[in-house]
Amino acid sequence: MRVGVLTGGGDCPGLNAVIRAVTKSLIQLGRCEVLGIADGFEGLMGKAPRARPLAWDQVSGILHMGGTILGTSNSANPLRDTATLAQVQRNVGALGLDMVVVIGGDGTMSLAHGLKQIGLACVGVPKTIDNDIALCERSFGFDTAVATATEALHRVESTASSHHRVMIVETMGRHAGWLALEAGIAGAADIILLPEIDYDIDAIVRRCRERERERRQRYTIICIGEGAKARGGTLTVRERVEDSPDPVRLGGVAHVLRQQLQPHLKSEVRATVLGYVQRGGDPTPFDRVLATRFGHHAAQLVLGGRLDRMVTLQGGRIDSVDIAQVANTQRKVPPDHELLVMARDIGVCLGISGALHGARQPGQRVAL
Ligand code: F6P
Repeated sequence: MRVGVLTGGGDCPGLNAVIRAVTKSLIQLGRCEVLGIADGFEGLMGKAPRARPLAWDQVSGILHMGGTILGTSNSANPLRDTATLAQVQRNVGALGLDMVVVIGGDGTMSLAHGLKQIGLACVGVPKTIDNDIALCERSFGFDTAVATATEALHRVESTASSHHRVMIVETMGRHAGWLALEAGIAGAADIILLPEIDYDIDAIVRRCRERERERRQRYTIICIGEGAKARGGTLTVRERVEDSPDPVRLGGVAHVLRQQLQPHLKSEVRATVLGYVQRGGDPTPFDRVLATRFGHHAAQLVLGGRLDRMVTLQGGRIDSVDIAQVANTQRKVPPDHELLVMARDIGVCLGISGALHGARQPGQRVAL
């Protein structure tokens, strides 16, 4: 059997660990030939395919490395038109691929699902620092990004405290707040703002003023997800990329919030957009293990002929679901999520004045 492997969409720590695990498992368990496709679907879209054999040696020594040895693209769209689709079909034929393991986010999964129409069988492996893939409670890359953002919040705190400033730190995460929420909790942010809860600027001003009046800690740390917006406001869009499976790129809401806040506060307000440092660097041990489990399971799906499936983690167990179920859907932070309720109960401001929708009220005891 000849199996292609590609990485699509934005990179994230742990991709190489998956490539290594899937390749080694396919070679060892199935005596397969594995081909690494260059730059995501782009490697299948040109006049000639771009791919190279992946032997045991080529995937050794890459477990700890960030990025992807195969390269990736988050604008390549093999479903763009019938001519592109036909070219992909010719390239798959020329490479003699029986199937392809596609490592990517929800956009990549929907492209993989769409390739069924030319008879290309895929197995999906979910990756993203956003942790927003449906039916998968943890994607690899997320733990590393949380660690990076937490470290940044920690570093910002000492300078905030010296200058008695309000410091806004913006995380990535697209339209889901998982990264901002976990980094905000781990980094002891006073205010956490998520895409799922439109913020009320008055509630934020109130909390910052309370902190200004404090004797011991006259500074405020705000952690905001890039997809957050004010109540009645609009998303902060950094860039629009036409013809891309992910046409809207977010970023810069920290600066918008700074402008909204500064006129109401005595303290100086500063904004830091963390950006791509969250995607780079070596994966944490947790992500190395999760990525290896995902890659190993993907190989089992290939060898078991269970195609058009995506590997998942549910209840701590590795499993799989139909790719169609996750294509183009995102997993967001539910308004009554335990971490949100906990954050509020320990005094974190979530940018709203009223109660969390559907959540326990302060003082209401949890049934133990
Ligand atoms: O989906 C991963 C992610 O890093 C998002 O958090 C971010 O919004 C987006 O990718 C950035 O994409 P690009 O690499 O196109 O700027």
